[in-house]
Amino acid sequence: MKLENVIYCGDNLIWLKKFPDKCVDLIYLDPPFFSNKQYEVIFNDGEEIRSFEDRWKGGISHYIEWMKERVFELHRILKDTGSFYLHCDWHASHYLKVMCDEIFGFNKFQNEIIWRRTPFSGSSKSRSQQLPRSHDSILFYVNGNKWIWNAPSKPYNDEYLKRFKWKDSKGYYRKTLLKTYSQDTLEKLKSENRLIEPTKQGAKYSYKQYLDESKGETLIDDIWIDINMINPVARERLGYPTQKPEALLERIIKASSNKDDLILDPFCGCGTTIAVAQRLNRKWIGIDVSPAACKLMKNRVEKNSARGVEIIGLPVNIDDLEALPPFEFQNWCIGALGGTVNPKKVGDMGIDGFTFFNRYPIQVKQSENIGRNVIDNFETAMQRIEKDRGNIIAFSFSKGAYEEVARAKTKGLFIELLTVDKLLEYNEEKISDKMFEFF
Ligand SMILES: C[S@@+](CC[C@H](N)C(=O)[O-])C[C@H]1O[C@@H](n2cnc3c(N)ncnc32)[C@H](O)[C@@H]1O
Repeated sequence: MKLENVIYCGDNLIWLKKFPDKCVDLIYLDPPFFSNKQYEVIFNDGEEIRSFEDRWKGGISHYIEWMKERVFELHRILKDTGSFYLHCDWHASHYLKVMCDEIFGFNKFQNEIIWRRTPFSGSSKSRSQQLPRSHDSILFYVNGNKWIWNAPSKPYNDEYLKRFKWKDSKGYYRKTLLKTYSQDTLEKLKSENRLIEPTKQGAKYSYKQYLDESKGETLIDDIWIDINMINPVARERLGYPTQKPEALLERIIKASSNKDDLILDPFCGCGTTIAVAQRLNRKWIGIDVSPAACKLMKNRVEKNSARGVEIIGLPVNIDDLEALPPFEFQNWCIGALGGTVNPKKVGDMGIDGFTFFNRYPIQVKQSENIGRNVIDNFETAMQRIEKDRGNIIAFSFSKGAYEEVARAKTKGLFIELLTVDKLLEYNEEKISDKMFEFF
């Protein structure tokens, strides 16, 4: 199994089981949050491609069981010096913490990082009887007793610098209280002319702490308010619904890995983690169940890499395609035909996409033996949008469907019935890349 600079397409559980024990230095995961939402990707030019679902029929226990299987594997493949960051939010963070404590051990928990997504005080959605929700949580665990750690720090800000408001011949200083001290320390400070005598009886000594002596940096704590969610016009924005900012991943990767270490993101989306890992000279592996996401991240990483990026596990046969979630199947079929996905979700009259040229309608059915009634409804949809050509894609069609197509032809409506195995014969790579040209 290839363990360096590769994208795996498919359910991460299946791939993770193939990884050897203790092979990864850092894991960052940003899984579905149990949000009960369906996420959609809206591209810059108004096209839309449906992405992943975060709905759980069996409620929170179903979600946690699903996550637990994956976290179990992630813990197994993490090196003893490795770190694990799980991105989540209020929907399930407390359940996930309990589950991770069980797998890693309560004492291996390091931090709950509070990431405030926007600098504004609250979301634009007004909620009448609760506080606006404006942060995500990132649970940070380690695997062993010693782990890679480069403490993140930031330069003093203006507010902090204002504290150094006194000046003498050695420069600017601030007054720092001596909480506990030995007689030796007191003598030493006195001899250096740094001791500040208490002005009131019973008060404590202070000493002069010079600005020049400090590194000019303060340690970053577990509340991160200096990294904003990607704004709609940011250069790094790709239109992926849950895309995280590169600055967030940069902080995590720099803190918990060194050059040439191996970073894994098993829910890689549009590839923020692997793009940053590549830029910081780390090795990386990205996994995502969505073929569309895998191609998107491949294009993203290749922009900054001299070498081509390999995707392993893209659908190559009927079984792979049958196993895809419905929207991914739809994306794949329309992409293979070189089309674009219909931006309307409601009232789309069963039209799932349009061909690249002439925008003829396309309908996709992830089933066998499509009957006459489907063709009939498609004819109505074609007439409503005033198109005389269109395609229906499915695994197979009934005799009645072909008869209906012949009848439609006599009315001037040309419908092509395309089976999925026919589509597989096309060069899928080449044609569907059209969909991603604008990245
Ligand atoms: C919240 S998004 C990740 C976004 C990512 N952090 C970024 O910056 O683009 C979650 C991703 O997990 C993927 N996903 C969901 N279930 C999966 C599974 N079982 N295996 C692999 N990927 C999965 C979805 O396709 C989606 O792209």
